[in-house]
Amino acid sequence: MTVKLIKNGVIVTAADTYKADVLIKEGIIAKIGIDLESEADEIIDATGKYVFPGGIDPHTHLDMPFGGTVTADDFETGTKAAAFGGTTTIVDFCLTTKGKPLKESIAAWHQKAGRKAVIDYGFHLMISEINDAVLAELPSIINEEGITSLKVFMAYKNVFQADDGTLFRTMLAAKEHGAMVMVHAENGDVIDFLIHKALEAGNTEPIYHALTRPSIIEGEATGRAAKLAELAGARLYVVHVTCAEAVQQIAEARNQGVDVWGETCPQYLVLDQSQLEKPDFEGAKYVWSPPLREAHHQEVLWNALKSGQLQTLGSDHCSFNFDGQKDLGRGDFSKIPNGGPVIEDRFSLFYSEGVHQGRITLNQFVDIVSTRSAKLFGLFPQKGTIAVGSDADIVIFDPLAERILSAETHHMNVDYNPFEGLKVTGLPVSVLSRGEFVIQDCQFVGSLGTGRYVKRAPYKAVNR
Ligand code: URP
Ligand code: ZN
Ligand code: ZN
Repeated sequence: MTVKLIKNGVIVTAADTYKADVLIKEGIIAKIGIDLESEADEIIDATGKYVFPGGIDPHTHLDMPFGGTVTADDFETGTKAAAFGGTTTIVDFCLTTKGKPLKESIAAWHQKAGRKAVIDYGFHLMISEINDAVLAELPSIINEEGITSLKVFMAYKNVFQADDGTLFRTMLAAKEHGAMVMVHAENGDVIDFLIHKALEAGNTEPIYHALTRPSIIEGEATGRAAKLAELAGARLYVVHVTCAEAVQQIAEARNQGVDVWGETCPQYLVLDQSQLEKPDFEGAKYVWSPPLREAHHQEVLWNALKSGQLQTLGSDHCSFNFDGQKDLGRGDFSKIPNGGPVIEDRFSLFYSEGVHQGRITLNQFVDIVSTRSAKLFGLFPQKGTIAVGSDADIVIFDPLAERILSAETHHMNVDYNPFEGLKVTGLPVSVLSRGEFVIQDCQFVGSLGTGRYVKRAPYKAVNR
């Protein structure tokens, strides 16, 4: 392995911004300083560039069966696209099946990822039932297999949804063994009722997806989960927060000392509910759950990120082609596969709309797009920062480059881009995973299967 030196760049971490060079040996950051040229075999000039820790995407769905089909991106196309976008670690959701050993599902997820991933990855584990068999498996899954986050869906009735008893018992088990519980917080029972009412009334268009999942229902489920976490004394992480009502519940719980954390996603920061009204069924491209909200929620989300009431940014990448997948829901919005392609654009979009537009600082950017997820999900300090001893997962980023996001140029395996036509400033030029280029001068130079599964540490309290 050649010894590399990234020279003349500006290193940015969650805490500091400074000019120094980074020496990489055996995939690890060996030194940070000046005058290190004599120790290097290869010099990478980063003049005029930021040197960021690689992005950590805490929320992806690759090669996942959902909505009567399977996501368009697998671990090959999804992790390649992530790398192009400046992400060097993902944590993907491993689905489980009731009545089947959890370890079988985990083995199946390893099969999907192992020979394909080009960047490092970990897994969250879905929990939909708690019984003696599940309780017996959890300690070793958490402490030996390094899956330290358990996901419970409070929505998707008759598909993934678990009841409150299951959520609460998952929290108790998670607390006992050092895991965090993640929730998809929407009231699935009420949504199910509203969907049936809408369809009965002949309201079948994509916009009814949003209208049958109002923000009050997300706020209610978020508050309920936070109360259960308080009672259980567990750590809770609310995925894909979209609205003022949910932010308020998280903020209130945190102010009372409850161990609750919140994630939002780029789509909720820059797109709004009106996209679902696009003609010719195009609104289906914008069907996520929870749904895009009215535009006034965006400012609430930005302010929550800025003030620390929300802490992370996931892509919730769950891609389906418009032709052949999203169109399963023509004539019935409830059959539109939920989700969209964001893994590639998460990092740049957030830099452009956040730092370039003056909404957040450079250091907040790094914290939200990388470091905080590393800390919450048991990856820090191996990942999520630029420090001696950390993995050399690094993005060399041109802050001045401009481009237009488009399906014509993206690398995701999907026939549309929800941010089509949006101009962004800032470009990941080169991306290294454990010291090896995956992207070099905007070209893919990695190899399939070089991404490694990362065992994550059980949680400890971190400073807020
Ligand atoms: O619409 C979404 N968010 N699809 C992915 C599954 C989920 O709920 O995260
Ligand atoms: Zn969800
Ligand atoms: Zn998701």
